[in-house]
Amino acid sequence: MRVLVLGGGGREHALCWALARAPSVDAVLCAPGNVGIAEVAELHDVDPTDTAMVRELAVRERVDLVVVGPEAPLVAGVTDSLQAADIPVFGPSSEAARIESSKVFAKEVMAAAGVPTARYWAGNDAESALAALRSFDPPYVVKADGLAAGKGVRICADEAAAGEALKELMVDQLVGAAGSTVLIEEFLEGPEVSVFGLCDGSDVMLLAPAQDFKRAHDGNAGPNTGGMGAYCPYPLDEATFDGLRDGVFRPVLAELAVRGAGYVGVLYAGLVLAPGGPEVLEFNARFGDPETQALLPRLASDLAEVLAACAAGRLAQVPAPRWDDHSAVTVVLTSGGYPGEYQTGQPINGLDEAAAVDGALVFHAGTRLDGDQVVTAGGRVLAVTGLAGTVGEARETAYAAADRIRFDGLQRRDDIAAAG
Ligand code: AMP
Ligand code: GLY
Repeated sequence: MRVLVLGGGGREHALCWALARAPSVDAVLCAPGNVGIAEVAELHDVDPTDTAMVRELAVRERVDLVVVGPEAPLVAGVTDSLQAADIPVFGPSSEAARIESSKVFAKEVMAAAGVPTARYWAGNDAESALAALRSFDPPYVVKADGLAAGKGVRICADEAAAGEALKELMVDQLVGAAGSTVLIEEFLEGPEVSVFGLCDGSDVMLLAPAQDFKRAHDGNAGPNTGGMGAYCPYPLDEATFDGLRDGVFRPVLAELAVRGAGYVGVLYAGLVLAPGGPEVLEFNARFGDPETQALLPRLASDLAEVLAACAAGRLAQVPAPRWDDHSAVTVVLTSGGYPGEYQTGQPINGLDEAAAVDGALVFHAGTRLDGDQVVTAGGRVLAVTGLAGTVGEARETAYAAADRIRFDGLQRRDDIAAAG
């Protein structure tokens, strides 16, 4: 198989790395990719959201399967465009991707499918939103309906803060049109876990649960980020995990199919393990970043075979995923100031020394070449994964490798998976 991966972050590096070692894969191509991905895939300078150019690339390169990394190309309709040319693609249509791009749509699907999720109010009128706050208890959860690059969710301690959040989203339009409709939600208490289901339209294969560390600083302090680290497997009890198939994934797939939005691709359930059972916080239409960098190195099955089976609607024909016995811990190295403003272009040293640590893998996210020198090129720069027999040992491996990497302003958390 010739597989084309769309995207150029740490998640796509892990996808390309896993596909490159899959026995069924002859070649991995990536658009646009990054410096690290270039070591395992052939790079093509094509913007993944330019659906016509992506289709042309896939046809020209006789690609057998396209795997879509980020949400933006999905929302732009890259899947619809590829399907029109009969190119197999792993990633939902723009209509099905609304499960991520509209939180109201996701809530409506969950309500119709009987999936447990936080009680909510939704609307586009600021006065009604303020009035609706009174039917909730603090802390108040205020969310923009649309995609807001991680800036659309506020947890507010009191009514004044919630009122301010509503004003910023609805009146000041801090996240643009994404905030013209808002949701107010009941606050859910409990540990968060990410579970990815590989979907073929009606059936699902669940991957091992992972936990993501979203806050910028140690002790879960500081602003929300795209993810500062992850570990896998998260110790979710078997009955709860198995219950997700019929309690969450299959009903959502059935409801989407009824709405004419059959879902092929990863359905990412962000769950809260509430005292009464798991509740869905959100769905994403893609693999999580950095959970994927912790998850895929443990996968012993042929990833391309499974993704191709999903694209062809024949998941039932592939065996359950096999995992190796290792635990994995991933530590993200970011530019100073992330998720706020940061500088790029800082030379990165120690990449080879880090990769030489036994059990360590270094995935590139925001990097580029400046001559022969790898330099920083984004907020999240690298994701360092450690693999070992226990979470504690995997953590030591990840940090031993991360310690060897240096660049000006490097920021990271020192407590990823510390409680595990
Ligand atoms: P989301 O973009 O919906 O994943 O929200 C970002 C983060 O906000 C989540 O990872 C949670 O930590 C937090 N969050 C969102 N909704 C709720 C809720 N209803 N209850 C508690 N925390 C929430
Ligand atoms: N790790 C969170 C996300 O990918 O959305």
